[in-house]
Amino acid sequence: MLRGADAPVFSEATSAEAFAARFSQHDPATARLISAVVCHLHDLIKEFRPNQEQWRKVIEFLTEVGHASDERRQEWVLLSDLTGASALVEEINSRRPAGATPNTIRGPFFRADTPERPLGASISLDGMGEPLIVEGRVEDLDGQPVAGAEIITWQANAQGYYENQQPDLQPEFNLRGLFRADQNGSFHYRSVRPAGYSVPHDGPVGRLLSEAGYPLHRPAHLHFVVRAPGFETITTHIYDAGDPRLGEDALFGVRPELVRPFEPDADVAGGARVAVRFVMVRARPGRNK
Ligand SMILES: [Fe+2]
Repeated sequence: MLRGADAPVFSEATSAEAFAARFSQHDPATARLISAVVCHLHDLIKEFRPNQEQWRKVIEFLTEVGHASDERRQEWVLLSDLTGASALVEEINSRRPAGATPNTIRGPFFRADTPERPLGASISLDGMGEPLIVEGRVEDLDGQPVAGAEIITWQANAQGYYENQQPDLQPEFNLRGLFRADQNGSFHYRSVRPAGYSVPHDGPVGRLLSEAGYPLHRPAHLHFVVRAPGFETITTHIYDAGDPRLGEDALFGVRPELVRPFEPDADVAGGARVAVRFVMVRARPGRNK
């Protein structure tokens, strides 16, 4: 690596090299990643040739993204999700054998502090919406139950909003719950049917992409994280097969095996029932836990 007097003079032709030459060898992996990002950034600037005013707008956008993020809202995650970056990282890192439940992105509305609830409980704390019964089983690739697996779920309400988007309108932890599968790997809980929704338009990311004509719709879905000792954690969605906009998911999460019918159920007045199945893979060295 060229340092000091041997480093190239900064010019349009040598800009990325001049940057990389200043790196110490302290952490080669980090240095390589930062150098690659900056090299692509310099290439972008050379391709689009923004003037100072246009570049200032880019900086202002990124500043706004930071200001829009807090403990309830993560605008950076939204930016990563809507550009397909999150789905691509997931795809590269979470490829699983046939028959295993695929990972999809977690999205910006997850809360790690979701309270545990007993099997059969309702996660709808305000009772607003069409009743939905969710029943499922967690098993391994051989079809054996994963007893005691933890199932964390979160979903939008009947208007398509998450509890942490509407802290003044929905009870804290509405439509969220942590359940523990029984000895047969089975679990069930009560909820309400989620609506599809648009990802937030009121922040800088949604505003920029909608101005550019980018579709921001998400078909109706339930979110899940399923974890058990000795298995790879599953982070995934279950989509309502009846949603006509399944093909337009703004976050690139739809996979055929994650689409399930939300069927009318005679036992649930005006409501529906959905059966889900999560197939876990035993933890592999070097893979995500
Ligand atoms: Fe969602």
